[in-house]
Amino acid sequence: MAALVLVHADKQAASVAVATTIRDLIRRRNAEGRTAVLGLATGSTPLPLYAELVRLHRAEGLSFQNVVTFNLDEYEGLTGERPESYRYFMEEHLFRHLDLRPGSTHVPDGIAADQTRACAAYEQAIRDAGGLDLQILGIGRTGHIGFNEPPSAADSRTRRVHLDAVTRRDNASFFARPEDVPHGAVTMGVATILEARQVELLAFGPAKAEIIRRALSESPHAACPATWLQLHPACTFHLDPAANAAL
Ligand code: PGA
Repeated sequence: MAALVLVHADKQAASVAVATTIRDLIRRRNAEGRTAVLGLATGSTPLPLYAELVRLHRAEGLSFQNVVTFNLDEYEGLTGERPESYRYFMEEHLFRHLDLRPGSTHVPDGIAADQTRACAAYEQAIRDAGGLDLQILGIGRTGHIGFNEPPSAADSRTRRVHLDAVTRRDNASFFARPEDVPHGAVTMGVATILEARQVELLAFGPAKAEIIRRALSESPHAACPATWLQLHPACTFHLDPAANAAL
C-alpha cells in the first residue's frame, strides 16, 4: 500500500493539520474512555507541531491527561538532564507545557547499564499501553526514521545503533562542538514503527527533497529504511512544496 502524500502551503499549515489529527484522536479516545498512545519525534521538523499542540492545550483546553507518549530515540551516553538529550528536548518543547500525568512520557534510556534488557522493556511498555495509536516521524537525509540508519531491516526492534556520519553532521548544530555528537543511540525499530496504527511523517525544506523522492519511489529495502513505510496501511507524508520538489 502506497503512502498518502499531502503537500501543504508551508510547514506551519502541515503542522496544524497533524496537530488537528492528534487532537481528534485524543478526543476520540477520551469519548471511548481509553488512553491515546502517541509516538513522538525530535529534531527541528516537529517544533511547529509541538508549538501548535501547546497552543491547542492553552487556547482550546485540549487536555493531555489521558495521553501516554513514547519517543522514538535517544542518544547513547546522555542523561535526561543534558540539554542535548532528547528527553530534555521533549520536556522543553512539549511536555512541561501540557497537563500530562507524571510517568506518562517515555523516552529510551541512553544510559541503561543493560541496554538489551532496557530495549526489550521499552517494547513491552508500548505493548502494555495498548500499542502506538499514532507515530510522528521526521526523516533523515540517510533515509533514517527514528535512528534506524541504513541498513535497517523491516523486522528490526528497539536496539542500540551506530549513527551515520551524515546524521552526526546534520545534528551537530545542537551540540557545542561537532565531535560532541554521540556515535551511538537507542531507537525504536522499523517493526516497532510499522506496528503503529497510523504514521504521520513530516518533511520540510529543499534538503529533504531527494530523500523523500527515494523513500516513495524505491522499492522497500533496508538501505533506505524510510522505504519500509510504503508497507504501512495508514501512512501519510506531510510535505511543504520544497520537500515535494523532486517527486
Ligand atoms: P530534522 O531531523 O527534523 O532535524 O531534520 C529529522 C530526522 O533526522 O529524523
